[in-house]
Amino acid sequence: MPEFILVNPQIAPYVGHIQLNRPKELNALNLELMLEIKQALIDFDQDDNIRAIVISGNERAFAAGADIKQMAGRNAIDMLKIDQFTTWDSIRKTKKPIIAAVSGFALGGGCELAMICDMIIASETAQFGQPEISIGVMPGAGGTQRLTRIVGKAKAMEMVLTGQFISAEEAKAYGLVNKIVPVEFYLSEAVKLASTIAEKSPIAVQMAKESVLKAYEMPLQEALFFERKNFYMLFATEDQKEGMQAFIEKRKATFKGQ
Ligand code: HXC
Repeated sequence: MPEFILVNPQIAPYVGHIQLNRPKELNALNLELMLEIKQALIDFDQDDNIRAIVISGNERAFAAGADIKQMAGRNAIDMLKIDQFTTWDSIRKTKKPIIAAVSGFALGGGCELAMICDMIIASETAQFGQPEISIGVMPGAGGTQRLTRIVGKAKAMEMVLTGQFISAEEAKAYGLVNKIVPVEFYLSEAVKLASTIAEKSPIAVQMAKESVLKAYEMPLQEALFFERKNFYMLFATEDQKEGMQAFIEKRKATFKGQ
């Protein structure tokens, strides 16, 4: 049983939910919590009854960053040996789409965790930031890379070098957030979005997610070839036949993930 997260494999049909659950510590991401998220995502990826995933914190905090108290006494060799980023790499490899439902603080590793997710639904109270500079370090789980690709150099530099937080509004204007909703709806809105995706062909969804992510990782020409291969491959699925036949017959498609 996980100690620092709550796992619900069926918050809605075909939607799994992971809730970070260290409320007193503002969901600070200790190593154990990250391992629990990693394992829950591996389990969700293997579960045919889950097609989309929501990760949330609580109203006050999505996560206020890596656990500073756990890290404070460590030296560089300790950090190297602990090698926490293999956990993050595994999370990044999750095949199914992940929606972050963010309310309150999403700081440091918390902001980086939200950015590893595929989309972000934010409450009006959400605040995003990379404040590592204020504690003598810098982002280490993608904050200088994913953030820069999303918001551009000027804003990323400002956030990373000053440590200042940005509001949900500003995050949305910079393309970090998909949608802002009143605080009472941030989780239900994320579940709604996940449910919409869960109605589609899960194989097509996984291949589409994989292809979009390649835009960050490959030169354009290679990424276009990658996209094309995935596109062709979907014509080997029953879901492609069903989806197109349903369109022709003017009915709703039922996708089986076959
Ligand atoms: C450990 C944390 C924590 C953190 C908050 N807490 N953030 N503990 N690690 N990252 C704890 C506090 O110590 C406190 O515990 C309790 O949560 C409530 O926090 P307060 O500070 O009392 O709340 P508030 O005054 O409302 O301020 C909220 C806050 C502030 C602005 C979010 O807590 C804050 O600045 N936190 C640190 C944010 C940060 O620097 N994040 C980056 C971490 S480095 P007690 O026991 O005192 O009540 C990082 C690197 C990632 O993320 C690298 C890759 C993994």
